[in-house]
Amino acid sequence: MALFVWSDKYSVNINEIDSQHKKLVDMLNSLHDSMKAGKGNEVLGKTLTELIQYVGTHFATEERLLSTHGYPELNVHKSEHAKLTQKAIELQKDFQQGAPVLTVEVLGFLKDWLQNHILGTDKKYSQFLNSKGVV
Ligand SMILES: [Fe+2]
Ligand SMILES: [Fe+2]
Repeated sequence: MALFVWSDKYSVNINEIDSQHKKLVDMLNSLHDSMKAGKGNEVLGKTLTELIQYVGTHFATEERLLSTHGYPELNVHKSEHAKLTQKAIELQKDFQQGAPVLTVEVLGFLKDWLQNHILGTDKKYSQFLNSKGVV
């Protein structure tokens, strides 16, 4: 069973963002699968790096859209992104230094963060962006 099962309730009603969110979910699930399959640190490290890079790409896409359209809650949104980015950087640093950071707890934390952020913070901009013609 996948760690994070996508469903329509996670849709923010914007095609580009939904497909990025789905890709993040896929990447997180494949990291989880690799971990459960006992893959070595080389594979895990590569997957973790790709996931973190894609998180960066995704945050930049959202922030650019929100900034372009003058979203009033941009700063709050950005600071949530910044906090996770900081955590991800620490996670990767620990991993590179050989710490066994990729645990069920860490993946659970990432999954919860993504679910809560999409359902709470991201969903808040749906109507706003839709009203600006972004769909
Ligand atoms: Fe976001
Ligand atoms: Fe998002």
